Amino acid sequence: MTDITSRRDPHAPGVPGVPAISLRGATKRFATKDGSAFTAIRDVTLDVAPGEFVAVVGPTGCGKSTTLSLVSGLEPASVGTVEVAGQPVEGIPDGVGYMFQADAVLPWKNVLDNVALGLRYRGLRRADAEARARDWINRVGLGGFEDRYPHQLSGGMRKRVAMAQTLITEPTVLLLDEPFGALDVQTRELMQDELLTLWSGSGAACVFVTHDLTEAISLADRVVVMTAGPATVKDVVTVDLPRPRRVEEIRLTPEFIQLYKRIWDSLREEVEITRARGASRVA
Ligand SMILES: Nc1ncnc2c1ncn2[C@@H]1O[C@H](COP(=O)(O)OP(=O)(O)O)[C@@H](O)[C@H]1O
Ligand SMILES: [Mg+2]
Repeated sequence: MTDITSRRDPHAPGVPGVPAISLRGATKRFATKDGSAFTAIRDVTLDVAPGEFVAVVGPTGCGKSTTLSLVSGLEPASVGTVEVAGQPVEGIPDGVGYMFQADAVLPWKNVLDNVALGLRYRGLRRADAEARARDWINRVGLGGFEDRYPHQLSGGMRKRVAMAQTLITEPTVLLLDEPFGALDVQTRELMQDELLTLWSGSGAACVFVTHDLTEAISLADRVVVMTAGPATVKDVVTVDLPRPRRVEEIRLTPEFIQLYKRIWDSLREEVEITRARGASRVA
């Protein structure tokens, strides 16, 4: 469990001594067609401190996305409690930003309008929204591309737009669900570095879901290992690698490799359980 008094970023927004995110015994059941209940996650307990970066790893289908949807208020917990900044989550809480693998970039809007969208929804005047959007477009390295449409951008550039879209609302809680999963390896590493740079100045508490352990360790202060589904927290490992990090370099260090081995030992068991279930299904 995190010692909230030793938050990693003393300037992070939020209430002192209160976790940015707190799940207590959270279980989620979905109703199935035949009327029975399917348990997606069970008894998940986890705190994330303000300004902390937590990565969540676990086998495919174990319940990682479901966990995020409880935090974002897209789904209510069936059992247990979920709080953001000390408040029970009912509906989508203020200050939560979400980024998925499939980005939410609208094809019929140019980069400027896509980035300004969140602020326009919040009722900001066009001129103010556009001024802030231009600032964020520069911050994500897309200055000069304001008038481009999504189909005129590379995969990495679209991700930059998605990052600006999410960060422009200055979320205090940032939820990322395999956001770079569809990118090629080089672009992916570039985006990881970019995300770390943008996050480090934001003070946001970050939960980054991935099935890629290298990505998890490169980015996070702590890596949470989930069990095979229905997921619960199996292990929480502190990643005490120095910051600022360059992901390409850090993954070659002995400390990184040691962490990788330790966490992979834990994760591998769950991946194997999941694979064995898949195999028995087709057999
Ligand atoms: N809305 C839903 N209704 C029914 N079952 C769901 C729903 N969302 C997810 N599930 C099921 O819950 C399990 C966990 O899903 P998910 O959280 O997406 O896994 P992960 O993100 O770890 O791959 C899966 O078996 C999935 O089919
Ligand atoms: Mg998922």
